[in-house]
Amino acid sequence: MQDIHELTIICGIDKSGDREDVERIRICPGEIVGIVGPTGSGKSTLISDIEQLSQGDTPTRRKILINGEAPGRDIRTDPRKKRIAQLSQNMHFLADMTVEEFLKMHAKSRNRNFDTVEKVIRIANTLTGESIHPEHQLTILSGGQSRALMAADIAVISDSPIVLIDEIENAGIKKQEALKLLACEGKIVLVVTHDPVLALMTKRRIVMRNGGVRQVITTSPGEMNVCSELVRLDNYMMSLRNTIRQGGLVEEAVIV
Ligand SMILES: Nc1ncnc2c1ncn2[C@@H]1O[C@H](COP(=O)(O)OP(=O)(O)OP(=O)(O)O)[C@@H](O)[C@H]1O
Ligand SMILES: [Mg+2]
Repeated sequence: MQDIHELTIICGIDKSGDREDVERIRICPGEIVGIVGPTGSGKSTLISDIEQLSQGDTPTRRKILINGEAPGRDIRTDPRKKRIAQLSQNMHFLADMTVEEFLKMHAKSRNRNFDTVEKVIRIANTLTGESIHPEHQLTILSGGQSRALMAADIAVISDSPIVLIDEIENAGIKKQEALKLLACEGKIVLVVTHDPVLALMTKRRIVMRNGGVRQVITTSPGEMNVCSELVRLDNYMMSLRNTIRQGGLVEEAVIV
């Protein structure tokens, strides 16, 4: 795929068949865009339209353009040309393989050195409390371990210019670190989230309702201040969670 300097979403229709309220959304490299909205409002569907590079051929009738143009059929169908990485909402490994075998296979398919395998596991282990080992079978990994492994795999091996993330907060991994890892410089990142910290870490957020895009909100300086406060509270919550998980007591609340 050519260098990507713009991803465009041309909106379509919502669940009632009415036009969405925003006509088009343009996203440039280096930007993290949030997708928010109630359960069932169409957040994952929007992500999936982008992943498929839909051309008015899904129920939402949306069209996705790359650099202002409809991508050719070869780009839409060849995963190596598409270069869109997705961390999906529900993930289960079905492959009967070890972590190392899986990562080696992926590294090979992307022409990467096998050193990257060790790097993926090392980075994944910074995101999850329970260590992942190369000889672990994929099928025995916990939900948090699987998501941490996939996040590290996307960051190190896939290295796609467009990254789609569907709810990273519920997996029990360090969500802020995971978002920073996935959103490294120069990428276009869309992150579906119900989490106020993650939503306010983005520059803009798309608001969904009834299957349609209703508005796009730019994060204001006031919201950025709220975000810094929330990060402090959230880190405190994490430290409490860790203490309780390890069987410790938390008898005094100290929010610094
Ligand atoms: N524009 C649309 N037209 C028709 N159906 C739609 C549209 N948008 C979403 N849907 C359908 O609505 C259902 C819920 O959508 P989706 O799974 O995307 O919601 P969600 O916001 O991701 O919910 P959750 O927060 O629970 O993950 C799905 O069955 C999807 O196919
Ligand atoms: Mg969803």
